[in-house]
Formats: sequence, structure tokens, C-alpha cells
Amino acid sequence: MKKRLVVLTGAGISAESGIETFRGADGLWEGHDIYEVASPQGFRANPELVLNFYNQRRKQLLTVSPNKAHESLVKLEDSYHVDIVTQNVDDLHERAGSTNILHLHGELLKSRSTFDPNLVYNCKKDIAYGNRCEKNSQLRPHIVWFGEDVPMLEKAIEITKKADILVIIGTSMQVYPAASLIDYVSKNIPIYFIDPKPVVNKNAFNNLTIIKDVASSGTQQLLTMLID
Ligand SMILES: NC(=O)c1ccc[n+]([C@@H]2O[C@H](COP(=O)([O-])OP(=O)(O)OC[C@H]3O[C@@H](n4cnc5c(N)ncnc54)[C@H](O)[C@@H]3O)[C@@H](O)[C@H]2O)c1
Repeated sequence: MKKRLVVLTGAGISAESGIETFRGADGLWEGHDIYEVASPQGFRANPELVLNFYNQRRKQLLTVSPNKAHESLVKLEDSYHVDIVTQNVDDLHERAGSTNILHLHGELLKSRSTFDPNLVYNCKKDIAYGNRCEKNSQLRPHIVWFGEDVPMLEKAIEITKKADILVIIGTSMQVYPAASLIDYVSKNIPIYFIDPKPVVNKNAFNNLTIIKDVASSGTQQLLTMLID
């Protein structure tokens, strides 16, 4: 039976595809205060600005492609059972061809009802103020904002607990509860952390390998370490 490899990915894995990470050097996301565009309060205060922000992100997503790091994770499926738990809202893991992908924070290419969270729709076009769901309430991006429940968290914890090997790629480990997933792995399993600026408490884990590199070349190193 193949070993179970769980990969936690964050915005950094998509950086080389041309998608900006969450907090740029200026602490802003594409020039916006994070809470202005990623919180229910921000949406209530200025729905048009928030819809427009995600409309721009969606438009941009449709112009970029998966990079070598997304592709490396597909190659690992030859040797491992690979589960990807991503904080990313892009669909680059899907387009690269990975099989098992769980989106912890939602998906840019989906919209949902502001009245009934179970009404989720595929969405490749803009969401305008006034676009309504079948129950006649405003549509919003299918994204988990700050302060909102993370419905996929339990499932992500179950997956993480079963890991024989954990790989973390391109996340600042600042956004909770996503960052707490690392606490659910079995004691002593190998953990690999790929990030040019890795933030992790080295002493908290017995078997941690830090690959201080960008995702494309970092995952190349990972392939040589994990595949004979
Ligand atoms: N692509 C996306 O879907 C996308 C983009 C921006 C933000 N978000 C959202 O933002 C939140 C962000 O938290 P986060 O921890 O994922 O992102 P973050 O922006 O907080 O951290 C990004 C991390 O990526 C690293 N990084 C930068 N360039 C890299 C590269 N080339 N290769 C590897 N790593 C690189 C940085 O050092 C940093 O540690 C998530 O909730 C996510 O939903 C998603």
C-alpha cells in the first residue's frame, strides 16, 4: 500500500504562476487592507468594492497557469497517496492534475448565496451587486473570510491525522485555524517545509526538514528526497 503524503499549500505555491501572495511587503493584498476585502464587515461596508476585488482576482486567475511546483505534486502520486489541503482559492492544483484536493478557504471560481451557504454555483464571470441566487439574495464569492467558520476544517484534520509524511509549501503559517493543522500529525513523522522565508518553530518537531527555497525548485529537491 502507498504511504499517505499530505501536502498543506498556501499562497506561495502559486506565486511563480504570477498570483500575488496574501500579505505583500507592504502588508496589503493587491493594495487593499486585508480586512477591507476579506471579512464580512468589509463586505457589509462596501459590497461593490469587495465584489470587484474578487472579480479582478478571478479574471487574473483565468490568465495564469500552474507552475512546476503544482506539477511536482502530481508526480508524487506515482509513489504516494497524495492529499492536498490548500488555503488557496485558485484552481491551479486542479488544472495541474492533482487528484485529491481540499480547499480550506473556498474557491474563486464559485459563487454562493448570502442567504443559504449551501447554494454554491460555478462562476467564471464577474459577480455584480444585484446578482441574486435562486432564493433571491445577493451572490458573494465562495470564499471563507476572516471571522467566518471553516466548514472543511474537520475533514482537513482527519486527513492530516492520517499522514505518514507531511509537506508544507508557501504559507506564512499566520492564518488560523489553517496553521494549526500541523499540530494534528502523528508524532515523529517526517515533515518538509518549503518556503523562501520559512516561519516554523524548529524545536517543536523532531523530524523537520526545511527547504529554504521557492516552490518550483524546492519541490524539485523534495522529489529527489522522496522518490528513489
Ligand atoms: N493563490 C491563492 O489562492 C491566494 C493568493 C493570495 C491569498 N490567498 C488567501 O490568503 C491566505 C493566505 O495565507 P497564506 O499563508 O497562504 O499566504 P501568505 O501570503 O500569508 O504567505 C505566503 C507565504 O509564501 C511564501 N512565498 C512567497 N513566494 C514564494 C514562492 N515563490 N515559493 C514558495 N513560497 C513563497 C512567503 O514567504 C510566505 O511565507 C489564505 O487564506 C488564502 O486563501 C490565496
